[in-house]
Amino acid sequence: MDLAAISGDIERVIVTEEALQARIKELAAQVDKDYEGKDLLLVGVLKGAVMAVADLSRALQRHVEMDWMAVSSYGSGTKSSGVVRILKDLDRDITGRNVLIVEDIVDSGLTLSWLKSNLESRGVGSVEILSILRKPEAAKVHVDVKYVGFEIPPDFVIGYGLDFDEKYRNLPFIAVLAKHMYS
Ligand code: IMP
Ligand code: MG
Repeated sequence: MDLAAISGDIERVIVTEEALQARIKELAAQVDKDYEGKDLLLVGVLKGAVMAVADLSRALQRHVEMDWMAVSSYGSGTKSSGVVRILKDLDRDITGRNVLIVEDIVDSGLTLSWLKSNLESRGVGSVEILSILRKPEAAKVHVDVKYVGFEIPPDFVIGYGLDFDEKYRNLPFIAVLAKHMYS
């Protein structure tokens, strides 16, 4: 979906499609280098990371496997609490694997911090995190994110996998949702 179709719903575009795609190519080159000679399993966190996994994996110049997890963090409304429930677990055993968790955004960091320890407890070779976006001002817990696409201000954003009420995931860019859409 293009900007013209939803321009009244957003305040501004913060990451254009071109900037996103260019940054993903850079991240992919870094991942190619860091995992040279090693196996690599991308674990996408549903549903937000679907676009990121699709674009990152196609930019990698190597074989890669993909698996998916769906988690829900309990909390009041839009705030995550750190109490996480697995809605869909990995299809395959990850013992000894080099796992790269792919996420859309690190906000409080609570979800990813839980997910990383959960995967680490399964006897993996390594677990690292790649997130397209990070809101540094919103961090409640320290979580080591090895690959970050863009640092953004603590506004509510949509697009490129990120939703508001399950909509806007199919925008090829990232934008700040207009206040009138949710207040
Ligand atoms: P955390 O546990 O606070 O880091 O929550 C992360 C999750 O909250 C992300 O995976 C998103 O699904 C969601 N989220 C956080 N910030 C935003 C936003 O600005 N727009 C849409 N979803 C968000
Ligand atoms: Mg998410």
